[in-house]
This record gives sequence, C-alpha cells and structure tokens, in this order.
Amino acid sequence: MVEATPQNMRGRFITFEGGEGSGKSTQARLLAEKLNSLGVAVKLTREPGGSPAAEVIRHILLSGVAKPLGAEAEAMLFAAARDDHLATTIRPALDRGVWVISDRFADSTRVYQGVLGEVDPRLIRRLERLIVGETWPDLTFVLDIPVEHGLMRANVRRGAAAVDRFEGEDANFHSKLREAYRQLAASEPARCIMIDATQPREKVAEQIWSLVNARLDPATAPMVFEDLAL
Ligand code: TYD
Repeated sequence: MVEATPQNMRGRFITFEGGEGSGKSTQARLLAEKLNSLGVAVKLTREPGGSPAAEVIRHILLSGVAKPLGAEAEAMLFAAARDDHLATTIRPALDRGVWVISDRFADSTRVYQGVLGEVDPRLIRRLERLIVGETWPDLTFVLDIPVEHGLMRANVRRGAAAVDRFEGEDANFHSKLREAYRQLAASEPARCIMIDATQPREKVAEQIWSLVNARLDPATAPMVFEDLAL
C-alpha cells in the first residue's frame, strides 16, 4: 500500500470527449470500474451535471428551452453548471485523493459552443480561466468515430426516445464536430489523446488502460478509504 503524502495525495482527473455514439460514456465507466477494482477510489461523473445544482441546469440546456437565447448564453449556462460541479464534486474529490473521471468537461464547451456555435474564442477562454482555473484534466481521451457510424450507434442506443437539443442537429453539424475534436486533440497533445472508437469496445478499453498506466501510474495512487458508489 502506498502511503498518502501531500505530493501524491491529490487524485487524478481524467475526462472523456467525443461526438454522438463514440462510446465515451461506456469507456468512462469501464475505466472507473477497472481503477476501482485495483483499490483506487474513483468518482465517476458527467457534464452537464455532476452535482445537484448542475443537474438542474443540465435539464434546462438539454431540453432546448435555452436554445433561443443563443450559443453565447448556452456557453455561460454550461459554465455555471461546471462551476458548481467543480466546487461541490470535482475539487473536493481530488483533494481527498479520489480519482475523478468525467464524461465530458470544458472541451465540450470549446467544441460545441466555441467552434460549432461560433462563440467568440476570447469569451470561451475567459470562462475557462474563471471557472476551470487550474483544474484542467491530467488526461483527456477524445473518442473519434466517423459521423455515420456514430449516429447509427446513437440511434440504436436511443431506440424510441426523443432526441435532445444537440442530438437533433444535422449530419453537417456532426462532421464539423468531429473535425473540431480532431483539431483540439492535435493542438493539445500533452493532455489529449485521440482514440479510434471504431475498434471493438474491449480493444478501446485496453488502449485507454495502457495509456492511463503509462501516463498516470495508478499503482502509486494512495489508498483512500471511503465508499464511493460509481
Ligand atoms: P448527454 O445526454 O450527456 O449525451 P452525450 O454526452 O452522450 O452526447 O448530452 C450532453 C450534450 O450537451 C451533448 O450533446 C454535448 C452538449 N454539451 C455542450 O454543448 N457543451 C458543453 O459544455 C457540454 C458539457 C455538453
């Protein structure tokens, strides 16, 4: 067992990003389960949401009622949700040595509102500085999948349920989204790793696991004794 010291005490922060049907939620869960099975305390969370107040804002955003306000206002709402998520869920967990895995984070705002919504990049950066501050992920997996393939998977998964605010966008939107994520991954290679999400689920999970091992060395994580439900 590794002793907790101030240096190694802080948990690691890992995020998953990608478009529709990329399988990122499944991979986030598989990674959380794997770490947990090795004795690493993990908090699996998501955006928008991840805290009671942020889940309320999630409902507003995904229902589409905020769409008429425009992409800039939506960016601010996502940021408000993120602020609460960071303050009440993410930072307290990291401070206790818990590893946090989030299904989406600030990169989603960069891509969806910044690139797709054409919100001024200066506003996006300011929001990032104000809200995210120093709490950037240690590692971000960008799951990449061709648009048709991803949409087909998303349709199968959704079944008869109605599409949400962003799922309802057209194929052109989704191909721009893919391109924006590819550019993001290329522009921040130290933090972001692009993964070929067309591979079988187990292969994707193996690849992610070996990258987490190589980059973040979970074997040296201190034991944190608390019961955290995934
Ligand atoms: P969600 O139901 O969580 O699905 P998924 O993550 O599997 O796509 O939907 C979240 C939606 O919100 C998704 O379409 C992306 C969008 N989104 C933004 O536009 N900006 C953001 O900052 C975040 C976090 C999400």
